[in-house]
Amino acid sequence: MLLLLVNPEARDRLVADPDGEVDGIVEEVLRLAEPGGMGLLRYAHADVVVGEGDDQVTIPAGDAVVIVTSAANRDEGAFGDADAFDPDRAPNPHLSFGHGPHFCIGASLARTELRVGLGTLFRRLPGLRTAVEPSALTLHTERLTGGLDELPVRCAPRT
Ligand code: HEM
Repeated sequence: MLLLLVNPEARDRLVADPDGEVDGIVEEVLRLAEPGGMGLLRYAHADVVVGEGDDQVTIPAGDAVVIVTSAANRDEGAFGDADAFDPDRAPNPHLSFGHGPHFCIGASLARTELRVGLGTLFRRLPGLRTAVEPSALTLHTERLTGGLDELPVRCAPRT
């Protein structure tokens, strides 16, 4: 919701054409605001060599690894202008639902919830705005799922 409130151009496109715009917006929300982006825990079953040259490291068998998918989702090598909210990214190969055998079994449901929730909210309340400067918002720091402590909003009349 906040990503749309601070990116009014994307919000206005969603309001004007919900069916046409919502899929790109949902993928970009997932990329930049994945809940649980603290990382996926894995253990190396064998020595694993990662990277090349001076960046090469070996993860010894038995070591725990925290794979920070939110960092991968902002990798400039994979996403141009990675910090920008750009619903037109195609492809948008974010890792918010994980990768491989444990890929999120609820991904389709989560995408549907976001499509319905964001689409309905901004269709019904196209004048929704933040009531405070985004810099004044504070994050949950005690929960793995992240999120904001609160998001004060106001609703401008339809123009
Ligand atoms: C935006 C919402 C969601 C996000 C970002 C998300 C993210 C993830 C991620 C990253 C994994 C991989 C964990 C790993 O590899 O260790 C995962 C697995 C899983 N997710 Fe989700 N998830 C979401 C919603 C849901 C929903 C709605 C359901 C069920 C209704 C669900 C059920 C599961 C299950 C059962 C697994 C384990 C799959 C396995 O280990 O084979 N998730 N999810």
